[in-house]
Amino acid sequence: RIAYVNGEFVPLDEARISILDRGFLFADGIYEVSAVLDGKLVDNEAHLVRLARSVGEIALPLPETLERIEEIQKELIARNDLVEGVVYLQVTRGAADRDFAFPKGVKPTLVIFTQVKNIVDSPAARNGIAVKTLPDIRWARRDIKSVALLAQVLAKQAAAEAGCQEAWMVEDGLITEGGSSTVFIVTRNDVIVTRPNSNAILPGCTRKALIALAEERQIRIEERAFSVEEARAAKEAFITSASSFLQPVVTIDGAPVGDGKPGPVAKRLREIYIDFAR
Ligand code: PDD
Repeated sequence: RIAYVNGEFVPLDEARISILDRGFLFADGIYEVSAVLDGKLVDNEAHLVRLARSVGEIALPLPETLERIEEIQKELIARNDLVEGVVYLQVTRGAADRDFAFPKGVKPTLVIFTQVKNIVDSPAARNGIAVKTLPDIRWARRDIKSVALLAQVLAKQAAAEAGCQEAWMVEDGLITEGGSSTVFIVTRNDVIVTRPNSNAILPGCTRKALIALAEERQIRIEERAFSVEEARAAKEAFITSASSFLQPVVTIDGAPVGDGKPGPVAKRLREIYIDFAR
């Protein structure tokens, strides 16, 4: 596999950054994950727009233009013959002697690599996933796609140990989002609900595209926060993310959602999103 590091394309196992890199020392950096389907980037524009916003929020200058970044992403997809999977991109404030405040005159670090993943034909998509709820212990700016992911690492590890594929994080009795996904439910009255964007969650690109696609088809998605109890009582639940598109949720903390099988709304919206992605 070929990776991109600060202007160069190098074999992944030869790709190197400094131990003084602020991404490594302080998690002082931003990332994005874009899906690749049939060798093409999916909804990448939305990811680049969010990248620009995230770096702006932490006053981190991008070392390349968004146009150049997309060129690099495409070159990596071509060089690695990636048909289906993800492109991971990370930019950090660069390498400098360890000091909390921003260093002066340091060039940001940009690394990009690809990963193979079956997104469309996956057991999780076919059979649905189990989720575990946990307290949301993250910081107050979850709208920034920061590489500081320790809370999610611990939440998703606890979920994995409980035999679950995703963690749902809960704050003040309300579900914020998944460890690396946006949460949706279909209520008893057949209303599709997802939490509104705010500093409490990452504004999901898949979420945004799905809301627009649904609207075009006169399918309304209501934006409001909901509790774990409401999710447990829902007809259906599902998650969205670039790296999974849409996956039905069939159990929450071991209790079945609806009949415990992927529901019709989740299946239909998944098909709609796959058509869009192609
Ligand atoms: N995760 N919420 C969180 C906390 C996320 O980390 C992600 C994405 C999402 C969904 O956003 P999008 O639809 O733009 O991918 C929501 C990526 C895929 C990851 O960390 O691997």
